[in-house]
Amino acid sequence: MIVKPIGVISSPFKNRGTAPIQPFQSKAIGKVTVHKKYQKGLTDIDGFSHIILLYQFHKSKGYDLLVRPYLDDKLKGLFATRAPRRPNQIGMSVVELIGRKDNVLTVKGIDALDKSPLLDIKPFVPHFSARKKVKIGWLKGKLPNK
Ligand SMILES: C[S@@+](CC[C@H](N)C(=O)[O-])C[C@H]1O[C@@H](n2cnc3c(N)ncnc32)[C@H](O)[C@@H]1O
Repeated sequence: MIVKPIGVISSPFKNRGTAPIQPFQSKAIGKVTVHKKYQKGLTDIDGFSHIILLYQFHKSKGYDLLVRPYLDDKLKGLFATRAPRRPNQIGMSVVELIGRKDNVLTVKGIDALDKSPLLDIKPFVPHFSARKKVKIGWLKGKLPNK
């Protein structure tokens, strides 16, 4: 499988220590530059307040199948976490879309590092993604109430 970036994310976070852990903790503004040849694919994106960014954790190397996540001191299965060191290095962030000029989107709530290769963009639609009865596993009691 060959995955080619469709653009690049610009963010104020240059290295891992400085980036927020998840978008809901971030008010940071970022830019998402889509390669010109894909610009037509952004038609109609402006009507969405939030978009899903899929990108490569390009500064990650290797992975462990058990990891100690930031919200717990016990080891957890990698796929039960959002740890950036993963076999396929794919990150996913829901961010607020605050503007678009041609092929450049301005977004709020970025947690990706600067120059993260952009793999895909999808509109965030609660009807498709939100569920009523949800269990959050080992994260129960560790996150602020919604
Ligand atoms: C816990 S991950 C969550 C990322 C995304 N919201 C997700 O759930 O897939 C967030 C951390 O990933 C790291 N990170 C973000 N972009 C990265 C990149 N391009 N390469 C390596 N690490 C990255 C930063 O340290 C950031 O604090």
